[in-house]
Amino acid sequence: MKRRHLLAGAVVGGAGLLWGWRASNGGDRGGNHSASFQALSAALDRAGLARPTLVIDKQKLLANADVLKQHLAGKYHYRVVAKSLPSLPLLQAVMTRTHTRRLMVFHQPFLNLIARELPDTELLLGKPMPVAAAARFYEHHRNPEFDAREQLQWLVDSGARLQQYAELARQRGELMQINLELDVGLHRGGFSENDAVIAALALIEREPGLQFSGFMGYDPHVAKTPGLLGGPDKAFAAVQQRYQEFVDVAEKHLGRSLSGATLNAAGSPTYQRYDGQQVATELAAGSALVKPTDFDLDSLADHQPAAFIATPVLKSLPVAQVPGIEKLARLQSWFNPNTRQAFFIYGGYWKALPESPPGLSTHALYGRSTNQEMLNGSASITLQPDDWVFLRPTQSEHVFLQFGDIAVYEGGDIVDSWPVFTQGA
Ligand SMILES: Cc1ncc(COP(=O)(O)O)c(C=O)c1O
Repeated sequence: MKRRHLLAGAVVGGAGLLWGWRASNGGDRGGNHSASFQALSAALDRAGLARPTLVIDKQKLLANADVLKQHLAGKYHYRVVAKSLPSLPLLQAVMTRTHTRRLMVFHQPFLNLIARELPDTELLLGKPMPVAAAARFYEHHRNPEFDAREQLQWLVDSGARLQQYAELARQRGELMQINLELDVGLHRGGFSENDAVIAALALIEREPGLQFSGFMGYDPHVAKTPGLLGGPDKAFAAVQQRYQEFVDVAEKHLGRSLSGATLNAAGSPTYQRYDGQQVATELAAGSALVKPTDFDLDSLADHQPAAFIATPVLKSLPVAQVPGIEKLARLQSWFNPNTRQAFFIYGGYWKALPESPPGLSTHALYGRSTNQEMLNGSASITLQPDDWVFLRPTQSEHVFLQFGDIAVYEGGDIVDSWPVFTQGA
């Protein structure tokens, strides 16, 4: 073959590759807000908001609560995971709708806050607290309407921590309800051996300041178990077998049934698998009620996203340029039309993904910013300064705490402002 032919072949091949690469970017993904995001934008404007704002769509929140209750079908008590809905009015709305006073709490300052402000609740710790944090709870707890002896279950994961709690109960003359954390397959700590559970139960029986209240066995790994390892069905069956075994061992040791105990299980990804056949007496879930993107799972297909970050566009630039390589801007937007425009938003770098208008993304080279972040989009997007951009949190627990009060959206308007948890001293 002649050299000329070789060259021509290389050029054609190279051009084909470039076109292929361009096409793999999916073409123009840009668009504008749907009618519902336009309505939300107008509501935020009417409310005089012009800063990063966490919005909860109350109708969707309550619809999610109804879905959850339908699945539980009266077969299990429902315990609201407070860390995933970290606002007192938000928790109250959910507790009222689902008719529960049970909460799962994960942070000592929030524990004190809830005991003070929602004294008619029944609390279970979702992770073991250092004994000093438990002591601090008692030192700061003032509200006599919340009786920690009756309404609070501490979570204990090991014999060593149990000894510390026993000592604390003795020192303070307290009665502490003790729930034992079980490792039912997640391997995040907790009791994994039957003998260790029996030893813990024996210690609790010997201590007048401790009382055994039940078990907690969390199972989110089930939803993520790959088919190669048997998939979620097999993992769920293994969890149930292990949980049942722990209960059998405890009942044998104690000589009584645990059917009235707090046998806590599940979380959002797995709660719908519980059909009344399992040994658990109550199920915990929180995130499913607002459905951040991490919870876009087949197992939560009937839940709807109910929480959004809304933030104003500060600057809208027709070309996205990266310092030092400005000349590549045209080439870049030819390769990927979704990088054509630059929108600098108020704030950014949250644990969140752009949601509306469609086709927005962060830039691989420009860098992230919590101050004013650049999002890119195609020429089809008509965002102007002061327009709203919407993102969906990937998780709720930390993200919700970053915006001040939650703006509550209902019936086309911002109708309420829900303060989020504060930490205090
Ligand atoms: C012990 C425990 N139970 C339940 C949950 C479920 O919470 P969510 O439904 O918000 O995922 C969690 C989440 O971390 C947890 O740690």
